[in-house]
Amino acid sequence: MTVGVIGFGTFGRFMCGYLKRYGEVVVYNRTDRRDEIERFGLTAGSVEEALAQPIVILAISVQAQEAFWREHGAKVNPDALVIDVSSVKVKPVELMQKYLPKSCQILATHPLFGPQSGKDGIAGLSIVIWPVRLEETPLNKIMAFLQNELELKIIRKTPQDHDKDMAYVQALTFFIGRAIGRMGLPDTELATKTYQHLFDIEQIVGKDTDELFLTIQQENPYADEIRKELVAHLEDIEGELAS
Ligand SMILES: NC(=O)c1ccc[n+]([C@@H]2O[C@H](COP(=O)([O-])OP(=O)(O)OC[C@H]3O[C@@H](n4cnc5c(N)ncnc54)[C@H](OP(=O)(O)O)[C@@H]3O)[C@@H](O)[C@H]2O)c1
Repeated sequence: MTVGVIGFGTFGRFMCGYLKRYGEVVVYNRTDRRDEIERFGLTAGSVEEALAQPIVILAISVQAQEAFWREHGAKVNPDALVIDVSSVKVKPVELMQKYLPKSCQILATHPLFGPQSGKDGIAGLSIVIWPVRLEETPLNKIMAFLQNELELKIIRKTPQDHDKDMAYVQALTFFIGRAIGRMGLPDTELATKTYQHLFDIEQIVGKDTDELFLTIQQENPYADEIRKELVAHLEDIEGELAS
């Protein structure tokens, strides 16, 4: 089955490397990347062509999704299964429910990996899924594909529960990573195992784009509270030490 992909950024490109093994992939990217897309063994298409496919995967920044669906939502194949891969879930799901034709099926996903963590392969890594509007048969087929072909571990979670957990798992980790990244931790031969973990956070998280950082911090409705809690505890501890 042909798949339409919207977004040939960091994750879109990484995902297409897997998808192209299973059939034709029609890719649309806002900035013209037709040459790169074709060289990658994919079909470069217009937004209309990508949205006309029976399966459509949205892989663009969360910040851009409302404007994108408002402009293009009505062009989506009314029989399509639309899948998103956004790192937060509450907002993208609300937008798909609001702007897509009511006849479309919707599957929300968050692959808990990217080109960095998946550089040696994705087998054994996890993907969160939530069938927003999806019949049992296609859901089972997709779950079998994710499990048996891609060898991913599937975690089923509501968008709200996903974002609550991710406020700790991603927002807190990336927040700390940014701060220590700005400090510029020395890579010293005296490093203990614990220090090495801290250093690794900076190294891994520091390579992600600013856009992804903003998505994780600003588009997760629970992230703000968790960041404030951390800062308050740091200030308390500093105050206790000073007194
Ligand atoms: N990177 C990861 O490890 C990872 C992992 C899991 C999930 N995700 C999710 O994957 C999605 C893409 O993230 P990414 O890491 O690939 O980000 P990225 O490298 O910054 O790429 C962003 C993509 O969004 C497109 N875009 C931005 N603004 C747009 C607009 N106004 N209209 C249409 N397209 C627009 C960009 O097109 P242009 O080329 O024209 O700018 C590009 O294709 C996000 O939802 C993110 O949460 C990422």
